[in-house]
Amino acid sequence: MSRQWIARRPGGLEVFELVDRAVRPPGPGEVTIRVRAAGMNPADLKHVRAGSAEDFPKLVGYEVAGELSAVGPDTEIATGGGAVGDAVVAFRIRGGWADEVTVPARDVLAQPANLSDAAAANLLLAGSTASELLHRTAVVAGDTVLVHGASGAVGVSLLQQAAVLGARVIGTASERSFDVVHRYGGEPVAYGDGLEQRVRDLATAGIDAALDCIGTDEAVAVSLALVADRGRIVTIAASDAAARAAGVRRIAGAMPDSAAYRDGVRADLLRLAASGRLEVPVAATYPLDQALAAADVLQGGHPGGKLALIP
Ligand SMILES: NC(=O)c1ccc[n+]([C@@H]2O[C@H](COP(=O)([O-])OP(=O)(O)OC[C@H]3O[C@@H](n4cnc5c(N)ncnc54)[C@H](OP(=O)(O)O)[C@@H]3O)[C@@H](O)[C@H]2O)c1
Repeated sequence: MSRQWIARRPGGLEVFELVDRAVRPPGPGEVTIRVRAAGMNPADLKHVRAGSAEDFPKLVGYEVAGELSAVGPDTEIATGGGAVGDAVVAFRIRGGWADEVTVPARDVLAQPANLSDAAAANLLLAGSTASELLHRTAVVAGDTVLVHGASGAVGVSLLQQAAVLGARVIGTASERSFDVVHRYGGEPVAYGDGLEQRVRDLATAGIDAALDCIGTDEAVAVSLALVADRGRIVTIAASDAAARAAGVRRIAGAMPDSAAYRDGVRADLLRLAASGRLEVPVAATYPLDQALAAADVLQGGHPGGKLALIP
């Protein structure tokens, strides 16, 4: 039996429940993972709050790190091979907030040895989103980029991936998070009244692209004021309506183009992390049965790093 978090119906934390379930043995093209750490993302909560009733009950948790406990017949993981006991990460899966989970082998990759389980379990959702933001806005060496929400999980990954590309990043954060933005190579600027002028003062030659990980009216308005080419403004957090009204592109992991792009960069991101150029700062870990306490911190909007659940 495995403990597993499910959401019974659309709603807030009150609809989450830890249940005991038999773990399905893996069929062809599947593996079973004994979870060592389950990653936590705002999407775990948002997709329950905003889900359609017919999609419930819903398994919670899109990414994990762990070890293979069973491998289906004639099955290899995405990075090749895969034997019982191997350390792996899995993304994008369903039901990761669990002791053990059976998932498609195509979504399972070898875990870099230098990453902690909590970091590895939190690398790929934020990392592949950041990679897609840079790709869709065509960021190249020498660009000056504005990142809204640079101290968050996606923001910190963006800072590091932009540095690899050779781009300069000005990143919004609260003052208590400025050191995080500095640590990963960005230039912090406080969000709030006067943001547009503060960015203009820092980027006297202009902003080439704006990557919005916050979705506030301020982030959208400042992006529109500073970036001449709307094709180089992308949001992951503004509502569909706000993005449409502003004429800016919104991307989401459930969109087929985004899913295909993000699946395609998982192995590259793991290689980058293995080389030491992509870190995942972890703020705290929680026992699996304390997931709701962790979720409460996450939905507060200032987690200060990634959170992981440890079975
Ligand atoms: N569409 C997609 O595919 C996709 C994928 C991943 C994430 N997302 C969304 O992107 C957002 C960020 O995700 P995440 O995992 O990076 O979140 P996170 O790690 O929880 O970070 C949230 C960040 O928001 C910052 N923040 C809070 N209020 C702000 C404001 N008014 N202005 C500017 N920054 C503010 C916080 O900075 P301080 O603590 O410094 O204040 C914090 O660093 C979430 O809404 C998430 O749902 C979307």
